[in-house]
Amino acid sequence: MNPKEIAAQQAVQFIEEGMIVGLGTGSTAYWAIQQIGQRVQAGLHIRAVASSQSSEDLAKQAGIPMVEFSEITSIDLTIDGADEVDDQLNLIKGGGGALLREKIIAFHSKRFIVIVDESKRVEHLGRFSLPVEIVPFASNLTINRLTELDCKPQLRLDNGKEFVTDNGNWIVDCKFEKILLPQELGAQIHSIPGVVEHGLFVQMASSVVVGYKDGSTKILS
Ligand code: 5RP
Repeated sequence: MNPKEIAAQQAVQFIEEGMIVGLGTGSTAYWAIQQIGQRVQAGLHIRAVASSQSSEDLAKQAGIPMVEFSEITSIDLTIDGADEVDDQLNLIKGGGGALLREKIIAFHSKRFIVIVDESKRVEHLGRFSLPVEIVPFASNLTINRLTELDCKPQLRLDNGKEFVTDNGNWIVDCKFEKILLPQELGAQIHSIPGVVEHGLFVQMASSVVVGYKDGSTKILS
């Protein structure tokens, strides 16, 4: 098993009968969805919501019953990946472009378990470019303002055209030096009109399951 699969396997054990489960997005969340599917096939009754169209498609293929957001008031447990995790369990997310839906789901979750391989652990956030979702309208002005926050912003492209999120927006990947004050930086980014959401998840994770190459896992909380 690879470290992502091992971390996913450990996290999926926290799912209990009857729960509403939030499904993350990305190559680590993929393994969680597969393993939740196996538990459902083995008789576990849960209902799930997904943080992206791709994860919803995967969940349906895996036989996981989905529930409409209009039918729920909260989510019991969400399992999702991350691009970076620091020692305070702050995260950078959005490498897959699903950060807005991921943050909405994480915010409404009683428990938010993050699954990563060891390569995602950092002392300070910022090695990975911070994804920021912006509306396409006047995007050059929004991007100019992001530059003023001492980062190098790059509009994300997909086959030479703007990458479009599930919400019809664009992503700007912002390369910062070390992000020492993620809460403050997040507030500054949010203050720019045109920004929809950013990929800093500050003090949102309940715990982080780290998978290692030797097959072991460690739970940070
Ligand atoms: C998608 C995300 C992913 O969780 C993040 O990019 C990690 O992905 P992976 O598990 O493929 O490394 O935030 O928007």
